[in-house]
Amino acid sequence: MGVSVFVVDGGRRLSGEVKVQGSKNSALPILAATLLCRGESVLHNCPRLSDVEASLAILRYIGCTARREGDTVIVDTGSVTRFEIPPELMHRMRSSIIFLGAMIARFDRVRMTFPGGCELGPRPIDLHLSALREMGVEIGEEHGELDCRVRDMLHGANISLPVPSVGATENIMIAAALATGTTVISNAAREPEIVDLADYLNACGAEIHGAGESTVVIDGVESLSPAVHTMIPDRIVAATLMSAAAATGSDILMRGIIPSHLRSVFPVFRNSGCEITVKREGVRITAPYRLQSPKLIRTMPYPGFPTDAQAPVMSMAAVADGMTVFVENIFTSRYSHVSELCRFGADIRVEGKVAVVDGVKRLLSANVRAQDLRGAAALVVAALCAVGKSEISGIEYLERGYEDFELALSSLGADVKKI
Ligand code: UD1
Repeated sequence: MGVSVFVVDGGRRLSGEVKVQGSKNSALPILAATLLCRGESVLHNCPRLSDVEASLAILRYIGCTARREGDTVIVDTGSVTRFEIPPELMHRMRSSIIFLGAMIARFDRVRMTFPGGCELGPRPIDLHLSALREMGVEIGEEHGELDCRVRDMLHGANISLPVPSVGATENIMIAAALATGTTVISNAAREPEIVDLADYLNACGAEIHGAGESTVVIDGVESLSPAVHTMIPDRIVAATLMSAAAATGSDILMRGIIPSHLRSVFPVFRNSGCEITVKREGVRITAPYRLQSPKLIRTMPYPGFPTDAQAPVMSMAAVADGMTVFVENIFTSRYSHVSELCRFGADIRVEGKVAVVDGVKRLLSANVRAQDLRGAAALVVAALCAVGKSEISGIEYLERGYEDFELALSSLGADVKKI
């Protein structure tokens, strides 16, 4: 990760059009899933992000070739020479755990360490491990290392998740695609990225049914062949751009997004007085001069309001008229942006999973430090509407999930420089 700083001269209105990048949370599991098919997978709309680069680094380390042509990534998984992922690659992001299911499905064995990633409180992987154990994987856990091998054969299982974990659902789907027999996941995560992964695997010849619903059924097949796939657009980047437009009283058009993926996000902006129009060429958001508070935002598994949009939307609520209560139900410690937002003059109090935001008329510029990916996005939104010049450090967090964000914002008329 490089170290960079954003210098934002805030208080400008945004206008114009922007194309929303491909989804990070689709790209990461799909890149791991390419391991299931011997040969060349072609992935379009694959965003240029440090987390995507971390996935490509893992693929290359184990012997695959991976190259990029613009937005397209081409991965050839024909020759693999290693069955382990070293700690420095595992620690680059939490999603590296998705390689567990993929390596097991293709090679019956893998050695890796526990993953790294953004600090959002404890992010356990117990559900991933117990599901794979039920499918016949023996997992040794010693000194932070996972030593996994298929004992007899990788087989289907009935797996009931106590919480609809996105990553666990994906790991199980990937492993089950090549397992013997049928796997049924109950209380599966229903995020659009789960559907995207299933679409890719099914295009490769997998038999995955019900992705996007609470019960997913996977009939294991003998082998998969590589496919061409286009990642869905990133709904969290869209929600971030909407927050930026709303907080700055702007009018922008986002191209390339799928409106149904934002069903729980649009009402928050409409309740704040923004006009959202779904057009053939994209989604337009027109913000009022002064926002109304969205009142109550509770993060929930999809189709509920996404935890990943909580931080950027909080920056918008910080300048809305009235009080907004946030309830963070997914992660225990996802308010690290709050103390930094207060430096801009925001009035926010946190108690446990609740944050109470009392909207102020305007934010003033500040020098702040990002501590996680979506928190970094929140600070950018705050700096865009704050009067004066702000400096945001820790931009390496932002770059895990936002592609050339300073360029996208500059094209909309913002004054953002990356140093
Ligand atoms: C994914 C997303 C992340 C998003 C999150 C929730 C990717 C790459 N990341 O993360 O952006 O914020 O979904 O929408 O897609 N849990 C356990 N045990 C486990 C796994 C999870 O207790 O084994 C808990 C977590 O602590 C958390 C909840 O389940 O409280 C949801 O986590 P999960 O859906 O697994 O998130 P990720 O897949 O890590």
